[in-house]
Amino acid sequence: MMKELVLGINYFGHDSAVSLVNMDGDVLYCLTEERFSNIKHDGAFPVMSINKIIDLIKHHALGDLKYIALNHDPELYVTDKLFSYIDSCCVREQSVLLKDSILAVLPEIRVCRQDMYPLNYLQELIIRLGIHKDISKDLLRYIKWSLNRYLYTQQTLTNITAMFPQCQVIPVAHHACHAASAFFCSGYSESAIMTIDGYGEHDTVTLGVGCRVRA
Ligand SMILES: [Fe+2]
Repeated sequence: MMKELVLGINYFGHDSAVSLVNMDGDVLYCLTEERFSNIKHDGAFPVMSINKIIDLIKHHALGDLKYIALNHDPELYVTDKLFSYIDSCCVREQSVLLKDSILAVLPEIRVCRQDMYPLNYLQELIIRLGIHKDISKDLLRYIKWSLNRYLYTQQTLTNITAMFPQCQVIPVAHHACHAASAFFCSGYSESAIMTIDGYGEHDTVTLGVGCRVRA
């Protein structure tokens, strides 16, 4: 039986890279895009690294690619980041209605621009909810930023799913990726984990516990 493999893709920002891991957690290959593009800290989608990994899998008959793990989760830009912001600047009834409306339009969004649906609809809603104008301008700007970030990352997720139709594509929260890479490479069977990063979907610092579970 062919061994199942996991391809981890790190993109969106800087130092795009890929890693190939087997189901025992062994890292078989790790490639950075900058080595192929010759652009220092290249943050582009690592297509050259992915192609190289695919070649290596075939050439060495390493197994079947079954899972694609991504280094962030697009949904969290809305449900964690944006919704926390809304909670912080609206009273409960306003917050619930606005969040429900955003969740309702989310699957339909193709573009997020001023004076176009759904941003114009959400702008009207903010006025109707009586959110003070001192808050509403920044709130609308934040909604726009968050939805555009969601759109971009969600589109990439769709493209990756199309690239690997035979695989399950799993978005992983950014700090969970950092925690996992620190813990599983540490050699410890149990440990406390702290991640500190300038950027996640929402978090910048997390505390957790790592525990190896044997099947
Ligand atoms: Fe990071």
